[in-house]
Amino acid sequence: MRSSRTSLRAGLAALVAAVGLFAAGTGTARAADTPLRDLAAAKGKVLGTAVTGSKLTGTYGDITGTQFSAVTPGNAMKWESVEPARGSFNWTEADQIVAFAQAHDQQVRGHTLVWHSQNPGWLTDGSWTSAQLSDLLRSHIDTEVGRYKGRIAAWDVVNEPFNEDGTYRSTLWHDGLGPGYIADALTWAHAADPDADLYINDYNVEGVNAKSTALYNLVKSLKQQGVPIDGVGLQAHLILGQVPSTLQQNIQRFADLGVDVAITELDVRMQLPADSAELAQQEADFKSVVAACAAVARCVNVTVWGFTDSDSWVPGTFPGYGAATPYDEDYRPKPAYYGIAEALGGGGTTPPPTGACTAAYTVTSQWNTGFTGQVRISCSGASLSSWKVNWTYGAGQRITQAWNATCTQSGTAVSCANASYNGSVPDGGSVTFGFNASWSGTNPVPAVTLG
Ligand code: G3I
Repeated sequence: MRSSRTSLRAGLAALVAAVGLFAAGTGTARAADTPLRDLAAAKGKVLGTAVTGSKLTGTYGDITGTQFSAVTPGNAMKWESVEPARGSFNWTEADQIVAFAQAHDQQVRGHTLVWHSQNPGWLTDGSWTSAQLSDLLRSHIDTEVGRYKGRIAAWDVVNEPFNEDGTYRSTLWHDGLGPGYIADALTWAHAADPDADLYINDYNVEGVNAKSTALYNLVKSLKQQGVPIDGVGLQAHLILGQVPSTLQQNIQRFADLGVDVAITELDVRMQLPADSAELAQQEADFKSVVAACAAVARCVNVTVWGFTDSDSWVPGTFPGYGAATPYDEDYRPKPAYYGIAEALGGGGTTPPPTGACTAAYTVTSQWNTGFTGQVRISCSGASLSSWKVNWTYGAGQRITQAWNATCTQSGTAVSCANASYNGSVPDGGSVTFGFNASWSGTNPVPAVTLG
């Protein structure tokens, strides 16, 4: 396991380096020397990302495995996913994510056992007595927690139990069972896996406010009653420039109650299109959230809710908003990535170039003997009238076909030049070309240079 992680890390270093740079300004490319998970580990923290199981190959899988030390299934462990029809279970995606995590020496945060949302129709449409509802919940927790016993570091046992004013949210569970469902769920989860850390998770509880104070009072009371509660999750779905000033103070007050704290679903959304000033603000926002966690010993984990803008819930829920994660849609690290690194003590970063064209290489799909790759050349504050992208394949890959570029390979050296119709890349624009290639053994992402 260790050696596969090491080689994946080597792949990551290549991936980050895979952003070739043609600087029209005076700056130099920022180089993140150390994967975020290692920076986090040096601070005693775990850095996680929500993931979609079906995407865990190619570049998405490489970044997940190399940069993060925990994964949270974004949807795969929710009730509607695992038991869509009563008594009929589907563990495919959840199993896949747990196996990926084990192969990459990562923790899994289980998400989530008791929620008002993403429940199957048979459950929400049913008419249940309180005793029946209680049995259903207990059985669900027994089954799911029991299945992954010993393989889940922490469970979001109860998700989003509060209204904004700190009263209990009216839900299937609260209305059918009363507020005692929270203590029951924690107790049942503990019985099913005594080693898993058990959390209550909510949003808009990052700063000190009525909702977080209700959560605080609940945790205090649960602790006093001896109910197994190990941590609170602060989701942190934030809006650009609006990190609560009381975030660290709030984390600290929970820690002082004797529970761990995790930032469980961090993202920072903005109105699209994002400009460079907004991306710089987002860098500051990510940095201040991670720094607040780093400053409190019992803040154990920061998890981003999707690491790439191509895998974020934001555009679907807030039309016109997005760009909420640390990597862009083409898996290029954004300023926010460096904000996380800086808060974790990462060095070696320098200011971004003032004007540049860059080339980013990604593997878009991969099968047993071949793969399809893509290179995107983007310009910001600069432009090109022709281009050539070069890289070296160190693991025996061979280009078999290319489109929207003329590619030649001599030994390990690949050179791709623009076609007659796409040499021009305007300021703010981009050009993409693709290729098929063969591989065997490993398929690390090469560093590319743009000339
Ligand atoms: O799986 C179907 C697919 O078959 C269909 O074609 C497609 C068409 O819309 O929908 C797919 O389901 C979507 C599902 O995500 C999986 O991608 C749902 O429409 C969509 O509503 C669902 O959104 C999820 C959301 O929870 C629902 O509330 C997000 O992915 C997920 O990231 C988000 O996560 C929640 C946390 O669990 C709790 N905290 C808030 C957070 C953001 O809403």
